[in-house]
Amino acid sequence: MSNHLKDITLKIWRQSGPNDGGHFETYKVDEISDEASFLEMLDYLNERLINEGNEAIVFDHDCREGICGTCSLMINGQAHGPERATATCQLHMRKFKSGDSITIEPWRAKAFPIVKDLMVDRSAFDRIIESGGFITSPTGGAPDANLIPIPKPVADAAMDSAECIGCGACVAACPNGAANLFTSAKIAHLNLLPQGQAERYKRVEAMVETMDEYFGSCTNHGECEAACPKEISIDVIALANADYRKAKVKNRKQLARN
Ligand code: FES
Repeated sequence: MSNHLKDITLKIWRQSGPNDGGHFETYKVDEISDEASFLEMLDYLNERLINEGNEAIVFDHDCREGICGTCSLMINGQAHGPERATATCQLHMRKFKSGDSITIEPWRAKAFPIVKDLMVDRSAFDRIIESGGFITSPTGGAPDANLIPIPKPVADAAMDSAECIGCGACVAACPNGAANLFTSAKIAHLNLLPQGQAERYKRVEAMVETMDEYFGSCTNHGECEAACPKEISIDVIALANADYRKAKVKNRKQLARN
């Protein structure tokens, strides 16, 4: 056999629906190419299952380019697998050896209930964004970009935060099931920029408090940063915490004035 073809054993979580207990099933995938992506390997397995009259394995994917944040697999206990700064869809089979056994599970977090097999419901993230992930902006033509001067380090920090693709790996990796990295990245992205100032304190308060309704609390494990395919720094959590404290003081002053 060529060095570029591998025989892999997969232990995959199968669950028929939210109320099913779920279980692992073992599948063999023979002669999979080094060049195949991890999701292509699952496509290949699914084609075989369908041809054999069996039900395909359900998993999330869309762009397959590390952009949309849809892919979400726990691979051998690691969110998005063994390669740093890599979403599941960007992982290739060259990372594994022939004869390897790979365990594939859905994200494990109370706030992300399993829909089926490897697909989870991440709509709790949508509730956080709905509560404050927007800016007030006048309608009409877009203003000239250079009309609002933004220092380069501020623009860079905002863009680093904006890289978050909302995949949920941070939550899946956190022992507390906390969503502080996701929420803080979304807060920092808007709160750092001049365009985000109008709702700055209202935003941080609403987003943090919505997050607390669904997710666990951050105790600084740092697993989120290690699992993030976009390498978002946990520094954004410090920034969001500082803004949250200021929001509470500001609100108290407003209450005292009313
Ligand atoms: S499928 Fe879009 S980021 Fe992986």
